[in-house]
Amino acid sequence: MELQAEMEPRDVAPHPPLPSDEPVVRVRGLVNRFGTQVVHDGLSFEVRRNEIMGIVGGSGAGKSVLLRTILGLREPQAGTVEVFGRDIRELSPAERIAMARGYGVTFQSGALVSSLSVAENIQLPLREAYTLLESVLDDLVQLNLSLVGLAPDVAEKYPSQLSGGMVKRAALARALSLEPKLLFLDEPTSGLDPISAADFDALLLYLHGELKLTVVMITHDLDSLFRTCDRVSVIVDGRMVTDTLPGLLKSTNPWIHEYFHGPRARAAEQAAAAVLAPKAPRG
Ligand SMILES: Nc1ncnc2c1ncn2[C@@H]1O[C@H](COP(=O)(O)OP(=O)(O)OP(=O)(O)O)[C@@H](O)[C@H]1O
Ligand SMILES: [Mg+2]
Repeated sequence: MELQAEMEPRDVAPHPPLPSDEPVVRVRGLVNRFGTQVVHDGLSFEVRRNEIMGIVGGSGAGKSVLLRTILGLREPQAGTVEVFGRDIRELSPAERIAMARGYGVTFQSGALVSSLSVAENIQLPLREAYTLLESVLDDLVQLNLSLVGLAPDVAEKYPSQLSGGMVKRAALARALSLEPKLLFLDEPTSGLDPISAADFDALLLYLHGELKLTVVMITHDLDSLFRTCDRVSVIVDGRMVTDTLPGLLKSTNPWIHEYFHGPRARAAEQAAAAVLAPKAPRG
């Protein structure tokens, strides 16, 4: 796909290319509090170019708040967030918009706007970013639907007419519409049956390879973690522990140990080992 060359950006140019060894996302010393509740207590982590980074933690540990902070939707009490090598606090409003074109997001709730058709949902980011002919918009909708394995006629349907798995794919199609290099997914397989979840993971791995994506995926789905992630970051006690899955399996932290050695984790590990050859390290 070479869409960018044909499009007329409305204002500033996209962010400059990042040196290949620079982290795509870098969070340092993040503090997020709600009243007396401390959610993040000096949390730090980095996402490398082209990796699939999983984010886990107990319910309420602060995964979605972390995502909102990285996206600049929430101002933290302390700490810094860099995306594509830029401190997000130092961006002008125009630069912020330009940066947001470099990533795609699927949120945990409200994956699609329910009053809009799938086509209109996918066109939303495109209309905000570019001035395009209707026929080009239609072609882009079809291109993105085919990327995520949805039939052409899904374009005219409304979210309420889709299965849960189709909604997840349509939300992914919308997140991919601006050809991002970085994808944030909040619980992309939650609520899906195991086969649909496995299909979604296979799709993610395919897109990751084809589109050279860096992926940050919040998930409670252990099968998904074992199938897709190069590294995993765990939020425990307001901080982050990041490692490969083999590294985390050896962790002596009680929460991490329990999470990765419970019966569901063992089953997920065995299932992944049975169907997947060891993942080659990605550069
Ligand atoms: N706007 C807000 N106002 C007050 N408290 C908030 C707000 N947003 C989040 N919280 C609190 O921050 C904590 C972390 O919330 P968050 O949504 O990040 O959890 P999570 O790790 O994503 O959980 P889950 O796995 O259930 O999605 C929770 O205790 C939540 O109640
Ligand atoms: Mg959440």
